[in-house]
Amino acid sequence: MTKKIRKVVIPVAGRGTRFLPATKVIPKEMLPIVDKPLIDYAFEEAISAGIETFIFITGKDKSVITDYFDKSIELEAFLRDKGKHEAIDSIIKILPDSGSIVSIRQREPLGLGHAVLCAQDIIGDEPFAVILPDELLISDPPCLKSMIESYVSLGGNLIATMKVPKNETSNYGILDIESISDDIISVNRMVEKPKTRSAPSCFANIGRYILDPVVFSNLKKQQPGVNGEIQLTDAINSFDSSVPFHAKIFKGQRFDCGSKIGFLEANLALALERPDLSDKIRSSILKLLK
Ligand code: UTP
Repeated sequence: MTKKIRKVVIPVAGRGTRFLPATKVIPKEMLPIVDKPLIDYAFEEAISAGIETFIFITGKDKSVITDYFDKSIELEAFLRDKGKHEAIDSIIKILPDSGSIVSIRQREPLGLGHAVLCAQDIIGDEPFAVILPDELLISDPPCLKSMIESYVSLGGNLIATMKVPKNETSNYGILDIESISDDIISVNRMVEKPKTRSAPSCFANIGRYILDPVVFSNLKKQQPGVNGEIQLTDAINSFDSSVPFHAKIFKGQRFDCGSKIGFLEANLALALERPDLSDKIRSSILKLLK
């Protein structure tokens, strides 16, 4: 029997250089998609998957992320005075239970693998999830929830995947596939940012993981890989072949909000789905395209 997935690691210590100059002072994860910061979508996905402990791997100038999930007595009092009850609801509903948020400082952004390793003491010896918040995934059921449902019978390591155009494979961790059955792929290994012509498939890793805790001992031995960073991909590839490695094909909408185009597209797509904004944004787009 697999153990329950109770904890998620949400790495937010990257420098977000693709969004400079904004990210000189605002963490990328706090940039809003319509009116909610990116980090909130990751948090909601984790909540809906039944996660109980949220471990943020933070860095310099990222304290605003944990502040966002804290109670603001003064702001609530101000809104109550003004009779702004909807606004109060919007800031109260994001508050997690006391003690459920853990913030760990990654001293330097040495890579995603290094960020995950920082959570070792808090995770201990149980399987756990990782969500990369700049990959915004919209689906019903949410991605991590449906991964956990599959994980119960698959065990081992499980990631989410989606097909990307061949000429974009060099931006991703790409799967070398053993076999495919329905929406589950049995994976031999992952190749981090391969040259387009040597990409083993078009199935990309899209930033959701359920990992066996042995990944921490692999990470400890890990040398810097692609871009000189400690890569999570390398640590996953280092598992003994007795540990199953699968990918679940994601069927919903995906926005790469780490890129400007993905971020802008997410804003338009989610605004178009909002009853209070849909008509207005539609006519704004049409006006701009004239
Ligand atoms: P990215 O490489 O997409 O994010 O890392 P980045 O480095 O912040 O962005 P750019 O490329 O400079 O624009 C994926 C995720 O891993 C986290 C990032 O915060 C992001 O959520 N990360 C990355 C860390 O927490 N620590 C690291 O050392 C590297």
